[in-house]
This record gives sequence, C-alpha cells and structure tokens, in this order.
Amino acid sequence: MPNEAGESHAHRVLVVDDERGVQESLRMLLKQECDVATAAGIDAALDAIDVQTPDLILLDLLMPGRNGLELLKELEERGMRIPVIVLTATKAVATAVEAMKRGAADYVTKPFEPEALRLKVRALLAHGALEEEVVRLRAEVSGRQQVGGMIGRSPVMQDIFRAVERVAPSRASVLISGESGTGKELAARAIHQLSPRSEGPYVAVNCGAIPHNLIESELFGHERGAFTDAVAQRIGRFERAAGGTLLLDEIGELDPNVQVKLLRVLQERRIERVGSSVPIDIDVRIIAATNRNLTEDVETGRFRADLFYRINVVPIRMPALRERREDIRLIAERYLTRTAEESGRRGTFAPATLNAMETYAWPGNVRELENAIEHGLALCENELIELGDLPEDIARSSLTDSLRDDWRAGRVGFEDTVARFERDLLREALERSEWNQTRAAADLGITRRVLKLKMDKFAVAEGEDAKERTPRAR
Ligand SMILES: Nc1ncnc2c1ncn2[C@@H]1O[C@H](COP(=O)(O)OP(=O)(O)OP(=O)(O)O)[C@@H](O)[C@H]1O
Ligand SMILES: [Mg+2]
Repeated sequence: MPNEAGESHAHRVLVVDDERGVQESLRMLLKQECDVATAAGIDAALDAIDVQTPDLILLDLLMPGRNGLELLKELEERGMRIPVIVLTATKAVATAVEAMKRGAADYVTKPFEPEALRLKVRALLAHGALEEEVVRLRAEVSGRQQVGGMIGRSPVMQDIFRAVERVAPSRASVLISGESGTGKELAARAIHQLSPRSEGPYVAVNCGAIPHNLIESELFGHERGAFTDAVAQRIGRFERAAGGTLLLDEIGELDPNVQVKLLRVLQERRIERVGSSVPIDIDVRIIAATNRNLTEDVETGRFRADLFYRINVVPIRMPALRERREDIRLIAERYLTRTAEESGRRGTFAPATLNAMETYAWPGNVRELENAIEHGLALCENELIELGDLPEDIARSSLTDSLRDDWRAGRVGFEDTVARFERDLLREALERSEWNQTRAAADLGITRRVLKLKMDKFAVAEGEDAKERTPRAR
C-alpha cells in the first residue's frame, strides 16, 4: 500500500486499536519504514488480513466487543504465523503475559516509548524477512546435490551448477576464480565433461609450478635444437589438448612475456613451437583458473588487461566453504563414505564433530575439509570420529562456540566463561611461543608482567594436561 508520499514499502503493518488517536500516532511513528493499515476491532482486522496479509500486527488487547486475545486464537486456527506485538496498559501486564503465552511475539505498555516500539517493529520485520528468504531459498534449491563431481546443496552452489551447465556447450573461454581448495579444478573438469568435447583430451597445466624459462615450451612445444636442452622435438600442451579442453591453472602467475605470447595465440587460434615459425592451427577450449584477484592485478599492471578480457569471457567465482556452510555436512558425509571404502576403516562423525566442522572458518576450503576427515578417520577409536580426532585448529576454534553454548544454556556463568576463554588464549600464545613468555606477551599485546599475573590467576603452566582446553586430550 502506498504511503502518503506515494511510495510503497517492503513491509506492511496492521494496527488494531479502537482509539483513533493511537492508530494515528502509530501510523506517524512507523510510516517511514512500512506501510501502515489500521483496523478498529477484531472483525475489521480479520477483514484487512483477508485482503492482504500483513507482515506484523500491533494489537491492542483491551477493545470494546471482542478481546484482542481472540485475534491471536483466530490467527492460530488459520495457521497464520504473523508476528504480533501486543499493546497493553501498564496495569494490565498480566494480560500481556497471557498473550505471549498464546503466541504474541512481544508486548509494549501504553503509553509507549516511540523509539523502543520502533526498534521492536524493525527487529520483528527483519526476522520475518529472513525467514521468508530461507523458505524461498529452500524452494529454489531443486534438490540437486551434485553436478559433474561438485557437491553442494547451497544456493550459491546451485548457481555454480547452472553457470557450469550453461557455459559447457559453447567454446567460450571461462575464468574460474576462488580461494585455494574451493574446487576450481573440479569445476574446470565438470565443464569439460559436460561439453561436446568430453571425448577429447582434458589437459591441465599449472602455470605457477613451471619455471619461467620452460613455460613457453611447455605450452607451445619446441623443435629439436630450439635451445640448448632441446635434444628432441616436444609437443606442447596446446597441441595435446587439440579437440578438447586446456586448463591454464594459476594463470595469474604467468610471466609478462608469456602473457603477450598467450594473448596472440588466443587471438589467432594458432601456435608456433619454440624454434619454429610454422603456425599450427589449434582447436582448444580454454579455461583459466586463479586464486589471485586478477582485476587487482590488472590495475597494478601485474596482469595484462587485454589478456584478462580475452580469458574472462565467462567468469565463474567459486564460493569459499564458509560462504556455504549448508554444504559442509553433505560434503563431509560423502567424503567420509568414500575414504572409508578406500581405506577399509570405518567411522561416523560424533555430533560435536559435525558442529565444529559446520562452524569452523575453513581457510583451506574443501581441500582442508577433506584432509580433516582423513585425519579424523585415521585417528578415531571405536569408529567414532570425535572432536579431538580432528586437526588441532578445528578442534580449538570450536572451543569458543562450546563456551558460548555452555553460557547460553546457563551451565557456566559470564565470569567463568570469559575466564575460560582468556585462559585458552594464554595457553595458545604460550604454546605458539614454545613457552617463551616475552614472545607470548608480545603476541597477545600485553606486558610480560600482566601475562605472568594472568598465568597465576588462571593457573596456566607448562606441561599441564591440555584436557581442559580441547574436549579430548590428544
Ligand atoms: N563442491 C565440491 N564437492 C566435492 N568436492 C570438492 C568440491 N570442491 C572441491 N572439492 C574437492 O576439494 C579438493 C580441492 O579442489 P580443487 O583442486 O578443485 O580446488 P582448487 O580451487 O583448484 O584449489 P587450488 O587453488 O589450491 O588449486 C579436491 O579434492 C576436490 O575434489
Ligand atoms: Mg587447483
């Protein structure tokens, strides 16, 4: 519904109150952030809801005729989960409590503090919008969990699946970017497999791993005698990939000289072997991958802009694992099954292990996850992979979460929680510095004297069992 200025807001709030003055003041208060509709009683409110479902209801409890609580009952019967803020006179707080029991989200006493009410409205609207988004995303996820070996059920991975499928049939150059271990190589393979060239060769070359003086002959080949060590003719990767796909991995590492040559090859679609001037036509689909920010490299002149545009025809950005935590469990379970089959060991994840894996930051992304699982499977006893079986970083990072969980659940008080956390940081800094207190203090940004005081206070000493720190001693 448009407001007075004629604009329409994303959210709609229904004010149910018999007093016109209250209706008007609430409208004035909220009109900047939402559309406000009003109803003077329960029946009018139900009519308004039938016309257009509001995102939030502000409900006066004491109205002549039907009581406000009846609207809550009605909503419940209709299965409508609209959040309701109850408005109540200061003296009638008991009724507000009753309303909360019947499903109201919050209450405000009259006369209300405008800012406090606005904040409550905002919070509930934001929460509702989030819930809606979750529902939408769930529906959007079509249930596909795997395309060309890439596993994922998150919306971002669904986007990747679609991008890969869309680009595969063409010969367009693709630039896959993303942090280390996010599956760039896997995506490149998937594109090849889903392309009409899948019967042809798939050749990958790691531009970062080949010495600068050899990369040219590696890519384009050389004739015998082209340079001192060229004792025989060599066929380069471009020629070997003929009819198929060539992955230029870590393309950001290419030497400027080679960047120029590569650009020419891509433009002319022909190569010359080193030491030869005979051009050879090539029919190769190029995929490039990088974990660098090539746009930045172009700006700083480290990477040629013209080559960048040539390879960046279709960009695909692989999301970091922490951007798609919904996929962690799925990938972990699949990988565990596979690794268990291969290694002949068996194991399942303890709930705490899965929790830790789902909250950890995974700087090494899927590769790190795979390593963690192998680590856990190798160390676990009784076929149960516990938190302590995972590599130290992961077990440790989950400590703050478990501290917070204990605190939330009321098992540990504020002071103790903070103390445990402090103690853990002290231990970590000391272990890192091999118990050199000067270095540990510098690391923590405190003086050595304060460090000593804290070590005494928290009884942190070398050689003490680490049990307190990680859920299971190693
Ligand atoms: N979506 C995924 N589903 C299943 N496994 C994945 C997924 N993404 C990556 N992997 C696995 O993670 C490991 C690392 O993937 P890959 O080598 O493709 O990453 P990368 O981005 O090329 O890393 P780098 O930049 O270090 O070369 C591989 O074992 C790969 O199979
Ligand atoms: Mg790679």
